[in-house]
Amino acid sequence: MAATHIYDAPPEGAAPDWTIDQRWHAFTAEQHATWRTLFDQQTAALAGYACDDFLRGLDLLRQISPGVPDFAELNRHLRPATGWEVVAVPGWIPNRPFFEHLTNRRFPAANFLRPPEQIGYSEEPDMFHDIFGHVPMLINPAFSEFLVAYGDAGLRAEKLGASDFLGRLWLYTTEFGLVVERGELRAFGGGLLSSYAETLAALTSPEPRRIWLDIERVMRTKYHFDEFQRTYFVVAGFEDLLRATEETDFASIYRRISGEAALDPEDAFPGDRAYDGLLQPVRPGPAFMNGEARR
Ligand SMILES: [Fe+2]
Repeated sequence: MAATHIYDAPPEGAAPDWTIDQRWHAFTAEQHATWRTLFDQQTAALAGYACDDFLRGLDLLRQISPGVPDFAELNRHLRPATGWEVVAVPGWIPNRPFFEHLTNRRFPAANFLRPPEQIGYSEEPDMFHDIFGHVPMLINPAFSEFLVAYGDAGLRAEKLGASDFLGRLWLYTTEFGLVVERGELRAFGGGLLSSYAETLAALTSPEPRRIWLDIERVMRTKYHFDEFQRTYFVVAGFEDLLRATEETDFASIYRRISGEAALDPEDAFPGDRAYDGLLQPVRPGPAFMNGEARR
């Protein structure tokens, strides 16, 4: 199935900032059941693989009624715990409104859910990806400030025509980032944590490259859309990620790298600091592992 939730302009019924009425009551019993299946499968699979605050943040999702989340109900829990709220958008939205939402601590979530036959694999980032994959990490103050700083950087990058470079930082952190906690490698990226199979590969496989995060290195590195990443970037903690983002002169990086060839995802690069700590042991997978939730 081709991606169908991509728009050039706000579709009918959407506000200028691309938000829409969630129309939660329109979700069907089958869609609620799909959500519950996805939620139960992923939470069962991630213990020991997801970072502490992701697992802690999942409690926010457990506090609301099971099934497709009613964003109004979710926000009643989310706001006091994180200072953020979730807003419904039709799907993929353009950079500028996306960055503006982040700077205002609004996390845009696609208001559609993969059909039941795509439980194991959704071609598009759907509501499950956006909510399950990203909302739990809002509970970490440094990470949530990183998202705000990213939004600010995004608005500046738009003016400089550099959003593609910055987008690599989002991808290699918020989607596919790894963190070391108590000497163990854990996942915090939502692209990983809404996909059991890639979480497992990122944390246990000897094949991919794992490099300590360096923002300029990240921004030079292309990524894969449709297969597992070949390189993952590791942070020592979210305060480090926030500090690195706040202290980086992004405009200088854009100037330096704009004339250089981008690195292929599998390339090594002089100056890379490889993560050479332990990988996670492979534990027996949950019973549903006949497919994978990719995004
Ligand atoms: Fe995402």
